[in-house]
Amino acid sequence: MSERIYARISGTGHCLPERVMTNLDLEKLVDTSDQWIQERTGIKERRVVADDQTTCDLAEVASKRALEAAGLAPSDIDLLVVGTTTPDLVFPSTACLLQHRLGLGECGAFDVNAACSGFVYALSVADQFIRSGQAKHVLVVGAETLTRMLDWGDRQTCVLFGDGAGAAVLSADSAPGILSTHLHANGAHADLLKVDVGVSRGFKPDEPRAGISVSMRGNEVFKVAVNTLGRIVEETLEANGIDRSELDWLIPHQANLRIIKATAKKLDMSMDQVIVTVDKHGNTSAASVPLALDEAIRSGRVERGQLILLEAFGGGFTWASALLRY
Ligand code: ACO
Repeated sequence: MSERIYARISGTGHCLPERVMTNLDLEKLVDTSDQWIQERTGIKERRVVADDQTTCDLAEVASKRALEAAGLAPSDIDLLVVGTTTPDLVFPSTACLLQHRLGLGECGAFDVNAACSGFVYALSVADQFIRSGQAKHVLVVGAETLTRMLDWGDRQTCVLFGDGAGAAVLSADSAPGILSTHLHANGAHADLLKVDVGVSRGFKPDEPRAGISVSMRGNEVFKVAVNTLGRIVEETLEANGIDRSELDWLIPHQANLRIIKATAKKLDMSMDQVIVTVDKHGNTSAASVPLALDEAIRSGRVERGQLILLEAFGGGFTWASALLRY
C-alpha cells in the first residue's frame, strides 16, 4: 500500500504596510469615536497601503518570508494560489504577477476570490494538490488592499478594514499536516455584503469610481457569521472525531472581536487559546488568517505538533475551516 501524503505547513510569513491609522485618525474623518469602534469591533488601529503600494507588493514580501522560513528556493514551488478580492488588475491574476516577481518558474498560478475566506479556500485547494501527489510544495497567500475600495465618508464600513498579506508554504509529508478542510458558500445573501461594481455589469464612465466601495448591512452579516461559524467548527470537529478540548489554538478570521468571542465560547475555549490580531490589523479580509497564523508562530505561541483550527467568514457569503497539526 502506498504511503499516505499529507500537506504540512513548512513556513509562514507576513507583511503589513508601514502606515498606521488609529481610531483617533478616523474620528477626524467621520462621526465616530475610539470608544464606539473598540466596543463594537475590538479594533484599535489598522494598516493602510501607501499610494504606490499594491496587493502584489505586500504578497511578495510575505511570500519571501514564508519561503525563507520553509528553507525553500523559489524553484521548489510547484503551485501558487493567492486568495484575494483586491487584485492589482482584472487580469493577469495577482498570482501570475507574484509568480514572476518571485521567480517561481512556470508553475501553475491562480487567484481565488472568496472574500474573507480566500486564504482558507486557497489552503484547501493546495491541500488537495499535495494529497493527490500532484504538487510537493505549494505557496498559499492571502493578500488584500481593502482600503483601496472604502468610502472614507461611510462610518459603517471605513472603520472596519485594513491592509496586509500573509503566506504559508505547504509541503508534502508522511505525517499530518492538514487533517481536513471544509468549504461552504451561499450566494442568496449577496446583498448584505458587496462591492457593487463589476466588469460585465459595466462601469459608469461619468462616475469612474462610483460604486467601488464596500457596502454592508453589518448587523445582519454579524448574525449569519456567528451562526455559520458555530456550525462549521462543529462540522470540522465531528469530521475528525475529535473533542473540542483537544484543540490547542483557534485562529479565526479577524473581523470583529465579538464574533471571535462567540466562536471561542461555542468551542469552550479560553480567550488565551485564541489568536487575536483584529485590534492591530482591523479586518484584512483574505490576509487576516495567515497574518494571525504567522504572528502566532513567530511569537512562539504556536508550536510544532499543536492542533489548530482555522476558520473564516466573508462576502458571498463564504465560510471555511481547516483543522491542522502544525
Ligand atoms: N461610529 C459610531 N456609530 C456607528 C458607526 C461608527 N463607526 N457605525 C455605525 N454606527 C451606529 C449606527 O448608525 C447605529 O446607530 P442607530 O442605532 O442610531 O441607528 C448604531 O451605531 C448601531 O449600528 P449597528 O450596525 O447595529 O452596530 P453593530 O453592533 O451591529 O456593529 C458592526 C456594527 C461592527 C459592523 C458589526 O455588525 C459587525 O462586525 N458585523 C459583521 C462584520 C463581518 O463579519 N463582516 C464579514 C467579513 S467582511 C468581508 O467579507 C469583506
